[in-house]
Amino acid sequence: MVPETMQNVHTISTLATESSQGSPRNTELLFPFLDLRAQFTTIGDEVMQAVTRVMESQHFILGPEVQALESEIAAFVGVRSAVGCASGSDALLLALLVLNIGPGDEVITTPFTFVATAGAVARVGAKPVFVDIEPETFNIDPGIVGPAITERTRAIIPVHLFGLAADMDPILRLAAEHKLAVIEDAAQAIGARYKDARVGTLGTLGCFSFFPSKNLGGAGDGGMVTTNDLELADRLRIIRVHGSRKKYYSEMLGTNSRLDALQAAILRVKLPHLDSWARARQRNADRYRALCSERGLNEFLTLPSVPADRCHVYNQFTIRSTRRDQLQKFLRGRGFPAEIYYPHPLHLQPAFSYLGYKEGQFPHSEAASREALSLPIYPELKEDQQAQVVHAIAEFYGTAN
Ligand SMILES: Cc1ncc(COP(=O)(O)O)c(C=O)c1O
Repeated sequence: MVPETMQNVHTISTLATESSQGSPRNTELLFPFLDLRAQFTTIGDEVMQAVTRVMESQHFILGPEVQALESEIAAFVGVRSAVGCASGSDALLLALLVLNIGPGDEVITTPFTFVATAGAVARVGAKPVFVDIEPETFNIDPGIVGPAITERTRAIIPVHLFGLAADMDPILRLAAEHKLAVIEDAAQAIGARYKDARVGTLGTLGCFSFFPSKNLGGAGDGGMVTTNDLELADRLRIIRVHGSRKKYYSEMLGTNSRLDALQAAILRVKLPHLDSWARARQRNADRYRALCSERGLNEFLTLPSVPADRCHVYNQFTIRSTRRDQLQKFLRGRGFPAEIYYPHPLHLQPAFSYLGYKEGQFPHSEAASREALSLPIYPELKEDQQAQVVHAIAEFYGTAN
């Protein structure tokens, strides 16, 4: 899929090799934006044992490793069933397919997300209908979802962006009132909580990504759909193998979207560490808050807000600055990584121009695209690295002394 490919190029360039658009090469950065090698040094032996186990079995597609991962993810998230698939993008696609959403249907989501969210809606032939975000959380504003519902609306896709759950209760109330499905785009938020529940348990279906840069990342692409509805889970398992329960006999139209055993085996090594990695990310977030406040930066920056009923897992630590582009350039010039997610809201991208949206229609999403800047937050990040990043930000704003 083109959007995934583009994303891979972008994310992998920030991991290891070279950045684009005239910014310094990563070799000139003092440390990377995301250091997956640091994670591998802590679990490498176990990962290699898992890889060897799969190679010795020569069982590569679905099979016992995938089944085991599905049970372990279902238990971790707190749902009755989990169905592995080829990517987070496909998880969204399968969720829409299993609900028979297609031409003539509308699906509500936000324009401030990765393209896969609305892309999946368009791919099944339905119409993405955008609703603006809350500026504080970057997530869909439930207060303005209601007026966007029409007789064609079939589902709402709240995105738990950057690792923070969307405000689900009002969305679930609206969905119940209008008999709509809720598909959680939890690609960035595995482990995050809304009230006492983990994301992926709240809606009709939850969609996860195991892209390497996610909090639970594989050694390639992978995804999972979670649900408490066993009938939907059963149909998802068929749709991911061309609608076949029995070999060479298709009950319905499906696709090829399977998780492979190597990914599952590696993810099974990582899953038991996920909560402690999330705690390390939260500790790093607390450190940024303390350092920014010590440096007098609170009047210049907006730091991520976490409503009291939610537990943020910080796939990204995303600050806001009205001088974002200059700040990013300044940091990179001093050797510090900082990335922009997302520079263009979806309603202003050519792929969605056919929907007819205009600039100014979603002011909070547009402002977020101009102001959001993500700082490194991975679990192995060191205290002095964070102090250096914040010192450089303070130099930029003239509060360093
Ligand atoms: C919010 C969101 N939705 C969906 C996806 C798609 O996941 P994948 O890259 O695994 O296809 C991503 C991945 O970046 C994402 O961030």
